[in-house]
Amino acid sequence: MLTAPSGTKNRELRATDRIEVVRTAVSDARGRGLRIGCVPTMGALHAGHLSLITAAREETDFVVVTIFVNPTQFGPNEDFRQYPRTLNEDIEACRQAGVDLVFHPETGTIYGQDDRTFVEVAGLSDILEGEFRPGHFRGVATVVTKLLNITSPDCAYFGAKDYQQQLLIRRMCRELHLPVEVCTKPTVREPDGLALSSRNRYLSDSERQVALLISQSLQLAKQLVSDGEHDIDSISNKMLHHLTSSPSVSVDYATIRNAETLEELSSACHSMVGLIAARVGKTRLIDNMLIDLPEPR
Ligand code: PAJ
Repeated sequence: MLTAPSGTKNRELRATDRIEVVRTAVSDARGRGLRIGCVPTMGALHAGHLSLITAAREETDFVVVTIFVNPTQFGPNEDFRQYPRTLNEDIEACRQAGVDLVFHPETGTIYGQDDRTFVEVAGLSDILEGEFRPGHFRGVATVVTKLLNITSPDCAYFGAKDYQQQLLIRRMCRELHLPVEVCTKPTVREPDGLALSSRNRYLSDSERQVALLISQSLQLAKQLVSDGEHDIDSISNKMLHHLTSSPSVSVDYATIRNAETLEELSSACHSMVGLIAARVGKTRLIDNMLIDLPEPR
């Protein structure tokens, strides 16, 4: 259920698939002294996306949501064709959430037939998600650069749900000197812990129950650390054991890493993140949780 933040009445929403319309609207808004917030999405909006829109509403004055199912971040055997496309509902949800502008370009507007320019964040692109989805992060970095160039926001909003993605985008913006502040907001979950995702709609009722093993395993890792367990291999094994307690789960990775660099750990450090990617039936899901080492007493 999508609920609108208060004070959203009387804001006019504009939706366009044209770059020039976005540029004009944004420069008009900036000319009126407004700060611009941008929330890049692939649509099929849910309460996770809406939390980013709400944050953008609170922290900036003119909110642009981009809706674009980006072909270059999907592998050849992935769900690009099947990915849910619900543009009319998404625009209505944006209207109710007080968004000022929705940019929903066609593929040909974002990519030329003969494009030869890509953005790659070396290293971070090749591990974890990058290892299991080759080329994925090149697609993400390239499209986010294009979308930020088109919308030129002061702040761009990303979810902690895609932990590696937001780290990569932060690094990319810093190294390319893009004049944008990257804001990361917490993962929105169902009451039982399942992280909201556009892909959850692929799950059957029984798979939906099994998918809870993912957030439970992360919670377990967090609990073990707070109970004083510092052996990373032992914690990872326990996560894996819990995850694979159902035969319909197949795990790509279940690991604990340095939260800033995503480097592997030989022993516990202060700021860690547990990361899981697993298939439940045919649906691939990812989730993560920050794990802080308790301060010594
Ligand atoms: P998409 O999966 O639509 O997600 C858009 C944004 O919503 C991302 O920043 C994602 O981290 C955030 N998000 C998704 N589920 C969330 C949840 N449960 N809680 C909080 N935030 C959540 O991520 C992408 O699109 C694309 O890769 C994109 C960045 C748009 C580039 O194509």
